[in-house]
This record gives sequence, structure tokens and C-alpha cells, in this order.
Amino acid sequence: MKTEIIYFSATGTTKALVTAISQGLKGDVHFRNITLPESRENEIILDSDLTIIATPVYGERIPHFLHDFFQGIKGNGNPLVAISVYGNMGFGISLEQFKEFSKNNNFRLIATGAFIGQHTYATKTAPVGYRRPDEYDLLQMRIFGEKIQKKIDTKNFTQISVPKSVLPKFITEFPDSGTRFLIRQPQVKKSVCNACGACARKCPVGAIDLNTLEISEQKCLRCYACVKVCPKSARIAEFRLPVLRAVFRHMGIKRKENETFL
Ligand SMILES: Cc1cc2nc3c(=O)[nH]c(=O)nc-3n(C[C@H](O)[C@H](O)[C@H](O)COP(=O)(O)O)c2cc1C
Ligand code: SF4
Ligand code: SF4
Repeated sequence: MKTEIIYFSATGTTKALVTAISQGLKGDVHFRNITLPESRENEIILDSDLTIIATPVYGERIPHFLHDFFQGIKGNGNPLVAISVYGNMGFGISLEQFKEFSKNNNFRLIATGAFIGQHTYATKTAPVGYRRPDEYDLLQMRIFGEKIQKKIDTKNFTQISVPKSVLPKFITEFPDSGTRFLIRQPQVKKSVCNACGACARKCPVGAIDLNTLEISEQKCLRCYACVKVCPKSARIAEFRLPVLRAVFRHMGIKRKENETFL
């Protein structure tokens, strides 16, 4: 059996989770990391028996800048597993979007799940989804992988149901979540930066000018890949107002559990 795992992961939690799923699968598993812009330049032509697509949840939905790229992936009636990774706040309409994608692109959605990863904006004082996935999450992912394998082995491709989002309809109709209004784009502390360029090379949307290290306010996703990769801790990122951090903490502090549908 050949499995293609297509994933986007700006800060590594989605990658950790799909790696754990792959441990429950048999046969050849090929990982296709679509995080950097150059990895999304060409269309994907699938020749796998099973496709797994995994993305983090941005603003309770699949990151909007991936939509056009996903439109080019054709399923040819083959099975699909769709994974949303979210930061312990909510996965919103992301699974419904994956179901729609599956129908439009001729896949058979045989399993889906919403799994917790540490929230991009978590800190020690606002520990939302902190240090997740943990050992228990990774074990659940491996078991999820084994269940997917069983479905493939028994050719059990019946339609699955996906939970409906409780988000008000008008919110779900905006393509972008508007996170930019809550979070500043990361600034550079010039006194510490050694101009190594690692942040610019790691940006999923090419928002950092390699020469000036300035960030395009419009392009920036607030994904914090640049903040986390910086070897000098020279990238500073913050909520626009301190009260927003308090609200964030309040809304996300209670541990949520992974959910699977298969
Ligand atoms: C712009 C943005 C929006 C986000 N929106 C949500 C959200 O709506 N709900 C949630 O629970 N987590 C949200 N998160 C957190 C990420 O989904 C979570 O941290 C995820 O594990 C990141 O995956 P990665 O490490 O693979 O990039 C958001 C993160 C970013 C950067
Ligand atoms: S990764 Fe950090 S040190 Fe390197 S260029 Fe970017 S901000 Fe400067
Ligand atoms: S510049 Fe913005 S989009 Fe690029 S890595 Fe940094 S936070 Fe992410």
C-alpha cells in the first residue's frame, strides 16, 4: 500500500502528529511538506492508494492561502483522511471544509479528526494547549493510524459524518480569520539580530525581505515560524493589546481532547 501524507506545519505540531499517524500504517509512506512557498509551486499528481491531508486550524478554518493549491489535488475516487490540528480553542468549520473539498475533488473521505497542538501564541503564563501533542496524544494518533489501516484492509469506504460547526454563519463566510487585527507582525530586535536570514527562509508565504528583514504587514499570517526559528530570539511578537492575551488565556486554558470520526 502507498500512502501520501500532505501536510502544512509552520511550527511543527502538525508534522509531529502526522508522523505519529504514519506509525500505525503499513506499506510505503511518503511525506510531502507543503509549508514553504516553493513546495506549492507545482500541482500534485497522486499515485497513492491513500491520501492524508493535514493542516493547522487558522481562525477556525483551513488556512485560506492553501485553498487554491488544494483545488489542484484530484482524488480519482481514492480514499482520503483529513486532519485538522488546532490549538485547544476550536476547530470551527475546518472539518466541514475538508468534507466539501473531498466531494469537489473526487475523494472518498474515510476518516477525519481534530487533534490538539500547542497554540501558536501559548506562553508559560498563557499555556493554551501547552506542550501538546503529549505522549497520550501521540499514542492516540498511532491508534488512529491503525484504525485507518484496518478500514483500507477491509475496504470499508462508507461515508462518514462530520460535526457541524457552532460558529455563526456570517463569520464562516469570511475567507480570512482576521487574526492580523489581534496580533502584530513580529518585529526585529536589531541589537540582537545577526542577519542570518533563517527567519526569511522559514516563512511560509515569503513575507520577510531577505535584505531588510522587514515583514510585509499584509502578507504576514502571524504563524510565528520566524519567531520560533530565530537562533537569537530576536523576533518579538505580541497581541495588539494586553487584554487580548488575558482573553486568549481564559478561552483556551481548559484542556480539550482529540476527536476522531471514522
Ligand atoms: C493565524 C492563526 C490562527 C489560529 N487560529 C486558531 C483557532 O481558530 N483555533 C485554535 O484552536 N487554534 C488556532 N491556532 C493555533 C494553531 O492551530 C495551532 O497552534 C497548531 O498546532 C499550529 O500548527 P503547526 O505547529 O503545525 O503550524 C491559530 C494559529 C495561527 C497562527
Ligand atoms: S532568524 Fe533571527 S537572527 Fe536570523 S535574521 Fe532573522 S531575526 Fe535576525
Ligand atoms: S513573517 Fe509572518 S508569515 Fe512569515 S514566518 Fe513570520 S509570522 Fe509567519
